[in-house]
Amino acid sequence: MKIAEDIYFYEETSAGTGFSANAIVIDGDPKLIIDPGSKGHLPLLVKRMAADGLDVSARDLAFFTHSHPDHLGAGRALADEFKVCLAMHRLEIDFLRGGGLSFWGSFPFSEKEFMVLEQGEFSFGSHDFYLHHTPGHSPGSLTLHWPGAKLLVTGDVYFSGTFGATNLPGGDERDMFRTLERLEALTDVDLALCGHGPAVVGRGAVRENYRLLAREVSMKKAGTWTGS
Ligand SMILES: [Fe+2]
Repeated sequence: MKIAEDIYFYEETSAGTGFSANAIVIDGDPKLIIDPGSKGHLPLLVKRMAADGLDVSARDLAFFTHSHPDHLGAGRALADEFKVCLAMHRLEIDFLRGGGLSFWGSFPFSEKEFMVLEQGEFSFGSHDFYLHHTPGHSPGSLTLHWPGAKLLVTGDVYFSGTFGATNLPGGDERDMFRTLERLEALTDVDLALCGHGPAVVGRGAVRENYRLLAREVSMKKAGTWTGS
């Protein structure tokens, strides 16, 4: 569904497709498809996009916040069926060929299929984004900031009310704490689209969410956190 001008948000669904992440499309020509989800989820995503008047084309780019299968799983089919180029942080591509393989079993891509991303400015079509390298959940996690739309796409770095797991292969709690501090310093965010769960809508809600995350960080540092 359209959540803001040129921004479409497809909340995760497990209906017949297995566990999947939220997918996001930045419209324009070409389109940026962010975290299309699990392998079985792609036909449904294509259908949901079509209902919004959006088609996948070979000129589009699939951007992955990180390599977990519930985000990247549809990447193989997107490349095969729609000839869409895949893009991910250099460290995450390295991770996917090493420790990250524990999520996959075997490496399902060729390294040449990826556009290799680094932290910094990233222009695609008529849109100018900034990519933040935000490790903690995964070593090469990327958070996409679109200042023009006051949008932050967080992947599994944080959600509404909590931050992402740091105890998976490649995760690091201290990296996550530093990452959250850096993201909190971005003051021009009115919409945070997270890898799972609902969007955080409105500047006040975004700031309040950082307050909750900071509370979780201090409780974890103090060893008093009792949540999951
Ligand atoms: Fe993840």
